[in-house]
Amino acid sequence: MKIAIVVGTRPELIKMAPLIKEMKKRDNKHLFIHSGQHYDYYMDGMVLDIFELAKPDYNLQVGSGSHSMMTANMMMQLEKIILKENVDKIVVHGDTNTTLAGGLTAAKMNIPVAHVEAGLRSKDKSMPEEINRIIVDHLSSYLLSPTADAINNLKKENISSGIHLVGQTIVDSIDWLNHINHYDVLTKFILKHKGYFFITVHRQENTNDLMKLQSIIRAIKQMTLLENYQVVLSLHPRTKKIIQENNMLQQLSIDKLLILDPPPNFYETIQLQKHAKVVVTDSGGLQEESCIVNTPCVTLRENTERPETVKCGANIIAGYQVENIMKAIHDSLLKSTNWKSPYGEPGVSSNIMDIITERK
Ligand code: UD1
Repeated sequence: MKIAIVVGTRPELIKMAPLIKEMKKRDNKHLFIHSGQHYDYYMDGMVLDIFELAKPDYNLQVGSGSHSMMTANMMMQLEKIILKENVDKIVVHGDTNTTLAGGLTAAKMNIPVAHVEAGLRSKDKSMPEEINRIIVDHLSSYLLSPTADAINNLKKENISSGIHLVGQTIVDSIDWLNHINHYDVLTKFILKHKGYFFITVHRQENTNDLMKLQSIIRAIKQMTLLENYQVVLSLHPRTKKIIQENNMLQQLSIDKLLILDPPPNFYETIQLQKHAKVVVTDSGGLQEESCIVNTPCVTLRENTERPETVKCGANIIAGYQVENIMKAIHDSLLKSTNWKSPYGEPGVSSNIMDIITERK
């Protein structure tokens, strides 16, 4: 049996790296296919380096473009590779355009699809990610869900077979960091333990709506006015491009704001979250990671597909308005941080590989 894992963006690579390593360890003939949706060293190569992953067997080099262009380009190339390599099963992760392209191409060729992180729902179909998740879940044979909440979402949509509760692969990704050479991230960035807020913003619904982006920048400014705290912004290339194109750079030259451009690597991002007083983000991955390292999170969205982070007390959904963000920050400062992570224990990737290869 030949399996192919298809990934393409930074978060997919981070969360699938342990599974790719496990797959290659079991049999090197299985394929690691990279769509090239993310291509900058800081979004791509740096992740391969941290996880000591060999180069992909194929890189489709689709780069950036409209959603349809990217998806169609990936599908055309994937179809050829699947035929040439006689691939028996395709594994995709999460909710990106790469996930959709991998899942849809395989389904059209009657090849079983395994969807890692199945069942997440924001209930907001204006998000491209929500559309991608729903479609891929409905055409997958293996639905590898991180939590019971995710499984409930699948059942509500009448998906009843092939579902497995496996936990979150990010737990393995964070565990892998024990293998790498540690260095002191606080010293590197001249920060104090619990003396700063760590912010990331990249989602289309925040960055492509200038009114929302301006509002988030105003909130960042207010955070810098809070005594005793610095503010650290990790800059995603999409956000950087929009800020530059709209001459908004000046608005970010704020005292006590440290901009990390290029964005820090995965090890540093986890350390920066661990030592932060509060994580402020619109990323799904950071909602999970901050929950796992027991730092409160304020989410810059109106909804989340990670409700378990809210239920366990780790996360507050604040949206983009300044007063709501600042209220959530103040509430987070008072919070106790002893919640238990809902995402499981290391070993998730090995379990997933057993399921896909039908050892279980
Ligand atoms: C994609 C995913 C999103 C995920 C995010 C993580 C979709 C629909 N969205 O969003 O779910 O949370 O990745 O980063 O697939 N760019 C670069 N260099 C890169 C990659 C991107 O400069 O290596 C810039 C380009 O200007 C590009 C823009 O970022 O047009 C957006 O990239 P894209 O992959 O379309 O979406 P993300 O916002 O990264």
